[in-house]
Parts: sequence; structure tokens; C-alpha cells
Amino acid sequence: MGEILKNKHIILGITGSIAAYKAAYLIRALVKKGAEVQVVITPAGKEFITPLTLSTLSSHPVISEFFSNRDGTWNSHVDLGLWADAMLIAPATASTIGKMANGIADNMLITTYLSCKAPVFVAPAMDLDMFAHPSTQQNLDRLRSFGNHIIEPTSGELASHLVGKGRMEEPDQIVAVLETYFSTQSQLEKKKIVITAGPTYEKIDPVRFIGNYSSGKMGFALAETCAQQGAEVTLIAGPVALKTNHPNIKRIDVESAEEMYQAAIKAFPESDAAILCAAVADYRPEVQASDKIKRETEGEMTLHLVPNKDIAASLGAIKRDNQILVGFALETNNETVHAIGKLKRKKLDFIVLNSLRDAGAGFRCDTNKITIIDKKGHETVYPLKSKQKVAEDIVNQLASSLK
Ligand code: C5P
Repeated sequence: MGEILKNKHIILGITGSIAAYKAAYLIRALVKKGAEVQVVITPAGKEFITPLTLSTLSSHPVISEFFSNRDGTWNSHVDLGLWADAMLIAPATASTIGKMANGIADNMLITTYLSCKAPVFVAPAMDLDMFAHPSTQQNLDRLRSFGNHIIEPTSGELASHLVGKGRMEEPDQIVAVLETYFSTQSQLEKKKIVITAGPTYEKIDPVRFIGNYSSGKMGFALAETCAQQGAEVTLIAGPVALKTNHPNIKRIDVESAEEMYQAAIKAFPESDAAILCAAVADYRPEVQASDKIKRETEGEMTLHLVPNKDIAASLGAIKRDNQILVGFALETNNETVHAIGKLKRKKLDFIVLNSLRDAGAGFRCDTNKITIIDKKGHETVYPLKSKQKVAEDIVNQLASSLK
């Protein structure tokens, strides 16, 4: 990643949060990587860190007002927006996030944001209750729907001495997010990617089904990450209670394995890659009762099950050489052997293995622990991470496969 930020033009927006002091570290880290940094600070931001510190570190005068009080020079937010390769707002307060979400352009930072054509990264910093408030969360969802990248705050001690989620992510981590973005963006920009996610429901009668515990979180995190890197994502989702926000995600909601198969087989020929993350039911009831089955009339009951189509194997069979196919294996024993078997059988380019024996991996939780095995047999073992971070690892691997 050494050179990836070299000569990149980055607008750093700083707002009125105690975390503004970390902006100094952020500038140093970005400049060290060869980036050119132009600071835009809100009036409240200047109460927390002096423009002198920021202009010294960035080697550029800090912009705060629409025009310079000294000589009347007009600061063009439009020019600035066009100059940028990325805009990073760190720290971002609830107030700035609210203004960004609603286009309240009463300072230079917001006008620059509205003029900016480059990708925008937002690192919130605030008290835990402010962060959790539905107003803040809805505003963040709005920013996501504009295609902005939210760098989630971490949990820890806050300026109020309360402990919870709201600490701005550390500067080194923020720089790593930008590096990952620029390194995978060129590979994923405009690439068409099909992702299956969540469980499938196989109907028994109008009110009952066979399903599984898949939450869809991993697949949705993958869809969001691919979309943020500029890919055009078709997300084929089983029944899950998750939202999608990014404008690059086209979502197709399905219920059964057969519906998921039909959607996937239709979308795949036009695609550059498919990530098959869904926990597809292997079997469905042969007959679906049209009326609710009654215990009184049925007594003991036997369900006759027939196999569903294997979506991954079906796509593997029609895959062209320039298409990348990624599968998942959730195993409980002999993990690597089973995963390699699936990789070969389904003609995958790589497989993401998680074991139910690892605490914090697999269904329903927000974390995952994976091993990626590619078709040459290379294994990469990753530590336990949030599903969002795991998605970034998988998308990085996909980006290098697409090279
Ligand atoms: O169920 P199994 O462990 O074989 O799943 C491994 C991979 O195959 C996963 O990527 C899963 O999404 C995919 N799969 C599929 N269609 C099925 C069963 C599994 O695409 N019917």
C-alpha cells in the first residue's frame, strides 16, 4: 500500500468535536504517505484546534470562511470540490452530519461537500447517546444512500467520561480505509458483481417454512463494500430484516432457493464476479400444501424433501475464464478438507471458510473469523474481526483476483 496515497488530493473537513486534536495526527499520517491535504474547518472546529497548527502540518492555508477577511479573496468551494480525489470529514459531529444529510450549506465545509464529486468519507465523533439517537442514525443512513463512506466510530471512553460507541476511529485506521479504497477502487470501478445473501425459506404450507439462522449480515456488508468501491452490485437477498442504502446496489428480494437460483442464473452471464454468501436450503418439501396443515386431520406427519439446485455449482458450470466466483463454507469439523472439496466441486476461484468451532464466527453475530483458500491451495488465515472488516478483506482478495 506504500505509494497508494502519493499525490492524492485530500480535503480534510474538521468540525467542532474534542476529537479535532486527532486531525493533527491524521494530517501528518496523510502527508507522510505523500498525499496533499487541504483543510476546511467549521467555525466551531476552530474552538478545538488552531488553524495555525493545521496549516503548518498541511503546508496549506486553512480554509474556513467563504472569503478571506484580510484581502477579500474568494475561497471557491466549487474549485476545491473538483480538485479533490477524496473528501474526509474527521471528526464529523452530529450537527455537521445533519447538515450534510439535509443540504444546510451555512459554512464552507458543507458547501464544499455539496460541490464535491470525489468520494466522501465521514468519521463520526460524539457522545454515545447522540450517536445512538434515531436522528443521527437516520442522517447517517441518508449519507450512505448518497454513496458516502461512513467510518464507524469505535467503543471506548468518551470526552464525557461515559463509555460507549462514539469515539472517532484512530487516525492510522482512517488512513488505512483510504488506502484500501484507492487500492481496490481501480479493480472494482464499474465491475458488475452478483451477491447472494441471507437464508432461503422453503414453504411447507402458507404459514410454515424450512429456514435457517443466516442473518444476511455478511452478504450485506459485502454488497455495501463492493458498492463503495464503485462496483455495480446485484444483491439477491433471502428473507432478512436488513436495509440497503447505497445507490450502486440493486436489490432483488427472493424467498426460496429456486427463486434465488433463477435470479442468480439470470444476472451472472452479464457479471464480472459473483459472491455466493447465502445459506441456501439444500432441500425443499416436494409438495407445498395450499391450505394450512391441521394437526387434527394430519396426526403424525412426514415431510418428503427433494434437493434444491446448487446455485454456486450451477454458476461454476457456466463460468467464463474472466469471471470470478467466490463461495463460502461454514463447517463444524474437518473444515479445510470440506472447504477445498467445495472449492473444486463448484469451480470457485476462492472460498471463504468459517468454522462454527470458532467463537464469534458464523451465523447472526456481528463478527466473523475466516480463512480464504484460493484455487491454487493458498490459505490466508485472518483474526476475528467485525463483519464489515471481514468484508473488506474478502473484497481485497476479489479485487486482486479481478486484476
Ligand atoms: O451448502 P454448502 O456448504 O455446499 O455451501 C457452500 C457454498 O455454496 C456457499 O457459497 C453457498 O452460498 C453456496 N450454495 C449455493 N446453492 C446451494 C447451496 C450452497 O449457492 N443450493
